[in-house]
Parts: sequence; structure tokens; C-alpha cells
Amino acid sequence: MPHSEHRTVDFFAEDALPVPLVTPAEAELLAARQLGVAGRAEPLGSQQDANFLLQDGNGDILAVLKIANPAFGAVEVEAQDAAADLIAAAHPELRVATVLRGPDGGPRRAVVEAGGGAVMARLLRHLSGGTLSGPRHLSAPTVAAMGEIAGKVSTTLRDFRHPGLDRVLQWDPRHADRVVARLAGHVTEADRRDAVLAAAKEAWERVAAVAAELPLQAVHLDLTDDNLIRRPGSRPPMPDGIIDFGDLTTSWAVGELAVSLSSMLHHDGVEPHQVLPAVRAFHAVRPLSAAEAGALWPLVVLRAAVLVVSGRQQAAVDADNAYATAALDREWRVFEQATRLPLAVMTNLVRDAAGVACRPAPVAAPTHQLLRELDEFAVLDLSTDADAMNGGAWLDAGAEDRAAAAALAGGGAAARTPYGAARLSRTPALSTDSPATVSTGVDLWLGRTAVAQAPDAGRVLAAGPGRIELAVGQRVLALAFAADVHPLVTADAEVDAGAELVRLPAGAALHLSLRDADGPAVPPLVRPEYAAGWLPLTTDPAPLLGLAAEQAADRGDLLERRGAVFATVQGHYYAAPPRIERGWRHHLLSTDGRSYLDIVNNVTPLGHAHPGVERAVARQLRRLNTNSRFHYASVVEFTERLAALLPDPLDTVFLVNSGSEAVDLGLRLAIGATGQPDVVALREAYHGWTYASDAVSTSLQDNPNALATRPSWVHTVDSPNSYRGRHRGADAARYAPEAVAAIDTLAAEGRPAGAFVSETFYGNAGGVALPDGYLAEVYAAVRRHGGLAVADEVQAGYGRLGHWFWGFEQQQVVPDIVCVAKAMGNGHPLGAVVTTREIAERYREQGYFFSSTGGSPVSSVVGLTVLDALRDEDLQGNAVRVGGHLKLRLQALAERHAVVGAVHGSGLYLGLELVRDRGTLEPATEETAELCDRMLDLGVVVQPTGDHLNILKIKPPLCLDTAAADFFADTLDLALTQLGHTGRPEADPAPGPTPSNFLER
Ligand SMILES: Cc1ncc(COP(=O)(O)O)c(C=O)c1O
Repeated sequence: MPHSEHRTVDFFAEDALPVPLVTPAEAELLAARQLGVAGRAEPLGSQQDANFLLQDGNGDILAVLKIANPAFGAVEVEAQDAAADLIAAAHPELRVATVLRGPDGGPRRAVVEAGGGAVMARLLRHLSGGTLSGPRHLSAPTVAAMGEIAGKVSTTLRDFRHPGLDRVLQWDPRHADRVVARLAGHVTEADRRDAVLAAAKEAWERVAAVAAELPLQAVHLDLTDDNLIRRPGSRPPMPDGIIDFGDLTTSWAVGELAVSLSSMLHHDGVEPHQVLPAVRAFHAVRPLSAAEAGALWPLVVLRAAVLVVSGRQQAAVDADNAYATAALDREWRVFEQATRLPLAVMTNLVRDAAGVACRPAPVAAPTHQLLRELDEFAVLDLSTDADAMNGGAWLDAGAEDRAAAAALAGGGAAARTPYGAARLSRTPALSTDSPATVSTGVDLWLGRTAVAQAPDAGRVLAAGPGRIELAVGQRVLALAFAADVHPLVTADAEVDAGAELVRLPAGAALHLSLRDADGPAVPPLVRPEYAAGWLPLTTDPAPLLGLAAEQAADRGDLLERRGAVFATVQGHYYAAPPRIERGWRHHLLSTDGRSYLDIVNNVTPLGHAHPGVERAVARQLRRLNTNSRFHYASVVEFTERLAALLPDPLDTVFLVNSGSEAVDLGLRLAIGATGQPDVVALREAYHGWTYASDAVSTSLQDNPNALATRPSWVHTVDSPNSYRGRHRGADAARYAPEAVAAIDTLAAEGRPAGAFVSETFYGNAGGVALPDGYLAEVYAAVRRHGGLAVADEVQAGYGRLGHWFWGFEQQQVVPDIVCVAKAMGNGHPLGAVVTTREIAERYREQGYFFSSTGGSPVSSVVGLTVLDALRDEDLQGNAVRVGGHLKLRLQALAERHAVVGAVHGSGLYLGLELVRDRGTLEPATEETAELCDRMLDLGVVVQPTGDHLNILKIKPPLCLDTAAADFFADTLDLALTQLGHTGRPEADPAPGPTPSNFLER
């Protein structure tokens, strides 16, 4: 058939054309002769065309040679090139595979004889960066960017008209029902074939119901992970390029988004709710109508069904096409994910994302109350906020029954849970998946015998031991109770209002739900991510009990409210943080009922909500809270205990409220005692926010201008980082002499330092030990010139390092002034400075000290209780044992994930440093940020640290147990794999140390 003819493809007339067979040599010849570009041709995979990469002698890419499938007519190819030009012009921020043009401005396009027939060949712009294909997880920003591009393409092509759009493609969702019917036979396994046919039928019915309201327009219809090109070097991969207009046609506009969404579903760890950012982004550019929102997920399912059947067919006709066969598993996974939840649920979620959700009307007051003569119900709060969840009660299997028994103990008639609320009682401690916590009905515990009666006339749909379903109007009332209780009605019976349904004995538990009669069965509890999909299919049954329906509390978005009253400098973890309202040991619990493993809270070494601290504080608050000018025992006992933890001659204690205050006071003590106002500090450190502690803080992540804005009394020396600093490995021994030289120079200039301040174990770098002997040399130098050694133990001290209670012990030195905070109070504001009597007395001559709440009776009791618990629970020992185990697990990850550069630290003060290259140590900053977000999805709170924010700071509560440490390591392994960081690390070029030879204790 000649190609000058204006014919277009009709899938139903002529299906399954194999890729034209063209050798690279033939491709080179036709590119040179007929398209005017000579180069070496390298075949590229494709399902229907023959594609080649054309490169010049230097390996530079000249173009993509695309030889269209013989099924396609010239006019179709022209339409595709015109659409590409249109998008390129409308969106210069996007890169588009437009047709290359010759010197005369005409397209480099020709009908050629190839593969045994006349076909259309052309040269297209090559977009570098690679596609988004492959199993790699897609993070929310990538998903959103894909949706936004689909929105932009959709708006650009809205008014595009061309005869080449008039085609009948197997990918056009308007024909999906026929395509599935025609090709389903290629799915040879009966169960899979049946599943595809059933899902496609249901989806088609939904689309057909709104088809008349779906606008038609030109669509690219293949904006998938395979055809969206990653902006070169973007991390995480962000698309900015569009290729392959081969499926350009006229179809439903909303199909553009459906195709894009379906291509996200096979990626590792992507489940349906995770594509919603794309819906929001598309909707922001090209608003979806209510009909389109209703059709979107059914179109995703149809696309998945078409992919499965077409993939099988392609593999059958073209068994040698590796591209087509490799896709089969991927396509099945898309189908599984697309059909993982009922269509109605996904459609409600889409509506919610697009802001067109409809709330079901509350159920009207019934003729009879469901439970005869029972109208007083104690509300059973099982939420994260509930007192019933205190003391780790949420972890007990019987927590709900116990809470109900307590509610009924006072003689109450019944207790009930609220509808639509998340329950912490259903939350496992460690889980990479969010649990089903949101109730779609109401649970009741009866304090006395009760009769359930039909609230209105209806028909019994089902009745059997432990269950009754009654159709009442448009809803189905479901009752579930113990299996040894038998209903008084039988299936199919018509019952009048007030008819007895079942007699329930005292002590019985009953689950009550109301769902749409034409909707799917609804589980009693659903996962929070899908709650907005399930809940509109149900109604609060409370009015059937004579109670008011739950009112959704709308106090505005908490994060927005926070932003309105916080300065931007007061940041928060995560772009979309979970709302954490409870902690227990090393777990943090969100209001959605999700448990997160807490890997960051060094401030709470005993763990969250420690009962001993809680009891001690409550008892002291009931009695007295004054200040340290009064005479009481706890402040004396606590300071004695603290002083006893420090070596001689450190025997005098100042109690303050925070680490910043402690460092500030420590510096003032040193300056006051020496009369030397200059201070030497380590670069890249953080010591606090008060005037003096901030002055000695030069960590770039805290203040990017830090080094340029130091007051004149602050002098900094290199941070002695033996992993990525100027001197690495054994060369790190050179840091100390350099610091000594700087201290000597200052003295020679007539301004000897009054203090040298540093952490004793390098915290900002993720817990890197200082080089051996570093502090001994530097302390000696500063003392030689009359200055004092100030140790910041705010992070490193108090047992976290496991092998040492204080960081300075690891360096085998004794400072003159020790600043402590964080762990001292297990979250209660408590800090201290411990020094010698002599230094303290000298300060007395120059300065003043009183802290209104530092050392208050409550603070002192907290301090004592923390010390008792550290000892009694052997938490320092635990840091050695669990920290040691965890470090080995993390080091093992370095064997499998090239991005792991080093594992720093000691005890439960660890740092996992991520690098792009183990030779250059280029920091993997964006990868670390993405990893932290993915870890949150998977139930772990972990954050980056370091000047490059490329180190996971691992400093959990010291009560972390081995199961939790293993969960963390396993989850990290999973996340690194999903994010594509797996791969045998390259042989290690010098000079970067390998994770295993990098010195760490
Ligand atoms: C090493 C170090 N010193 C001092 C401080 C300041 O402590 P605070 O936040 O209690 O004022 C911090 C806080 O992160 C710290 O890490």
C-alpha cells in the first residue's frame, strides 16, 4: 500500500503487525541517503516500530531514527510530528522528541523501502537522561511531575485537529471493551483471564455510564514511565521530556491521565494511593470534571486489562521481541494494583484528590431504635489520644475488650466506638505497611442483655450464626456478633420495623455498619490512606442507636495553622508530616494509628512516655515546684549524683534548662575565669541558638552564612573528619597539630584563647570519632596559653556511645568544663554545666547565675529518675549490645548498596553516610532526602544530618531492642533497593576509605 495515501490504522481490521525488520547496516544506509544524516545505528527496543540511535564517530548522539510500523500511514506520522512541535512551542520548559529539520526547514522524514515494504522513516530529536522505566520506586514528587506533564500535554492538545488523529488504535480506551474481548484468549491461565474479563466488564460499565459527558480531544495517550524522560542528573528522577507520539489519537481527554497513572503501578512499592499526587497535579493544570473523576480509575483498570491482553498477544506473534516478553510480568503487576481495591473506593479517592468528593447524607432517625430500650452508651475512645492507650496498652491484644470492660464497670448499659475514627488498638509496633485502623462502622459492648430489632421495614439479605444483613432502603445494615448467637430471622424474610432480629446476651460484642446497597462489601477497618475511598460508601450508624452522627471536626489544616504562627526558621520534619500525638518506648504514634520506629530521638534515652518519669513528675508536681534558691533535697541529690559521674576535679554543678544554655554558660565560665575573651571552635559544629552558643556554631545546615558572620572573638579550626575532611584515614592525625598551630598563632598575636569548645564525638558528621589523641593535643595547647577546655556532651554524653558514658573518655582526656543536656531530662528541659570549684569561684567574681527553673524540684526529680532508669535498665549496656548489632547490620548493607559510603559511630550514636561515588565521596544529598521520605512511608522516622545532609543520623531511644534494630536495617535495605541504590559497589579507588576499613569503634 503506498504511503502517500491518506489512510490511517484500524486495529480491528488488521491487528498485530510485527516490528519492521531492519538491520543496523540498512538503517545507517537509509539515514544517510534518505534523511541526510550519516552515523552509526544502534537498535533501540520498541513494541511496534524499529528505532535506532544514530551516533557520530565520537559517540555523540545525532538523532533517533524511527521507522514506523507498516500499519501506520504517512498522515498519522505527520500528525504526531505536528503535535510534538505544538507541545514544544507551548512548553519550552519541557523537552520534546520533535522531528529534525533539514537545511530547507523541512522535516527529515521520508517514505522508504525497508523490512520488505514501504514505511515511514524519520529522524527525531534525542532526549538524554533516560526514561523513568524500570522497577525503581517513584516518589511523590516524581509522580506529581508525571501528572503535571500529562496536564500540560492535555491542555496543549485540546484544540489540535489533524486527519492523522482519526485512527482506530488498540490503546484507545474507547475501544477497550472490544480489545479485551478480542485478545483475552491469549491469556492462557483461566484464573487470570477470568479476572481480566470481569474487571474490564465492570470498569467498562462505569465508563459507559458517563461516556457522553467525557470530552474528546487529541491525546498523546502514552505518557508513561517509558516515554517520559528524566531531566539529566535529576534526583529523585524528575521527568521533563516527552517521546513517542505513536499512539496520538482522538479519545477521551481523561484517558491521558489514566494511561500515565497505570504506568506508575508496577514500580516497586507503589500502591494505588501513591499515584494520587499525579491526579492532584493534573487537576491543578487541567481540572477534572465530576464525570471524568468518576471515569478515571475505571480507565486505569481498562488500560491495565488492555496491557495484559495485548502484551500476551504481542509475545505470541513476535516471540523474538524481548521488549514485549519482558513486559508481561510488569503488565500483570499493573493489573493487580489497578484492581487491588474496589472501583468505587478508588473513584472516591480520586474524587477526594480532585476536590469533588461527595459526602453521603446522614441516615434519618429510624422508626425504632436498633437496640430495644438501650439508649445510653459510654463512648469508647481507642484513638492515639485515648487514655486507654497509656502505658503501651495499644500493644495488648485484649486492649479493646479491657477498655470496654473498664467503661462498663460502673454499671453502664453499653459502650461504643465512634464511626470513622482511627484506632491505635489495631496498630502493630513494627510494620512497613500502614495497618487497617479506621473503622467503617461502630463496635458495641453490651453491659446487659439486649434485643436488636429492625429499625425500619426491610428485607433480610443474609442471616446465620454471628451475622445478619438487612436491606433498609438504599442501605444495608450489617450486624456481626459471636458465632454462638443465632439470629431470630432467616434470609430473604421481609421484616417490619420493630421485628426482633437477634437477642444478645450481656457481655456480647456487636459490630454494626451501614453501607450502600449497590456498593461493595466494606471491611470493618480500613487503612487510613484509603479511608477517603471507603467511608463515603458507608454511613454512621449512630442515629440507629438514637445517637447523633459524628461531626467531622474541621479546625483547618494543622500544618497551615502552624505556619501562620511560626517563623519559617522553625522548620518541621517532612513536607507532609504525620501528626504524632503519642510515643511509647522507641515508637512514635500518629493520629492515623500508624506506629513509626523512632530513630532520631536522642533526647529521650529511656524511651517515650517512660512510666517511672511520669510517676515521679506527677508526684512532684502534686507537691511542690519552686526554684533552686529554696532549700529542698532533690536538687542536692541530683547535683551530687551528676558530679559523681564526672572525674575529679569536676565537682561543681550549675543546672540550666537546655544544651544551648549549658554551652553558653560554659563559655561564659571559661571567659570569666580566664579573662581571655577569644574562643576557638571546630568548624561544622552545632552548639545551640543562644548568643554565645550560636556564635561558635558553624554548621552549614543550620546557618549557610555561618562562617561569614562570626563575631571577632570566635576562631574556627578544621573539623577533624577522618572520613571526608581534608585529611582522611591515617592522615587524620594531622588535624591536631594544625589546630595547635592555630591556637599558638592566636596567642602569639596577643589574644590567647580563653576556651576551646568542641563536641567530644563528632555529632554533626553523624557520630564520627575524633582522631585518636586529638583532644589531648588540643586541650594541652589551649591550657598552655591560659585557656580552658570546654566539652559539649549534649549529644554524645550520658551513655549513648555505649562503651563510654562521656565522649571525652573515648579521647582519654578530662575537660575543664562539661556541658550536658538533652538525655538528662528524657525530654523534660534540663541541662547542666559541671566544672571545678576553682573555675566556678572565679566566675563568681565576674558573673551572675540564677535559673528560675533550672534545678527546680520537678527538674531535679526528673534528672534523678533518668539516672536511676539508665542504671536499672542498663541502657548503656543496651547501647553496646543493640548498637553493636545494628552497626554490623548497617555495615552489611554497604556490601549490597553502592550508595552506602560509611557507617560511623559507637553504641547507639551511629551515622550512615550516603555517597554517589566511594572514590570522590560526592555526597548523596537528594538521595538521602528521598530515602528519609521513603523510610517514613515504611514506618521509620529517620533524618539526615551533616553539612551535606547526606548522613542518616541514627540516635534512637536507648531502649531500642534487637527486633526494632533489625526492623530498621531490613527496612533500610528494602528502601535502598526500591530506590535503585542496589548494585555491587565498584572497586574502591584511592583515596576514599571503604566502609569496612574506615576506622570506627
Ligand atoms: C552538640 C549540641 N550542643 C548543643 C545543642 C543545643 O541544645 P538545646 O537544643 O537543648 O538547646 C545541641 C542541640 O541539638 C547539640 O546537638
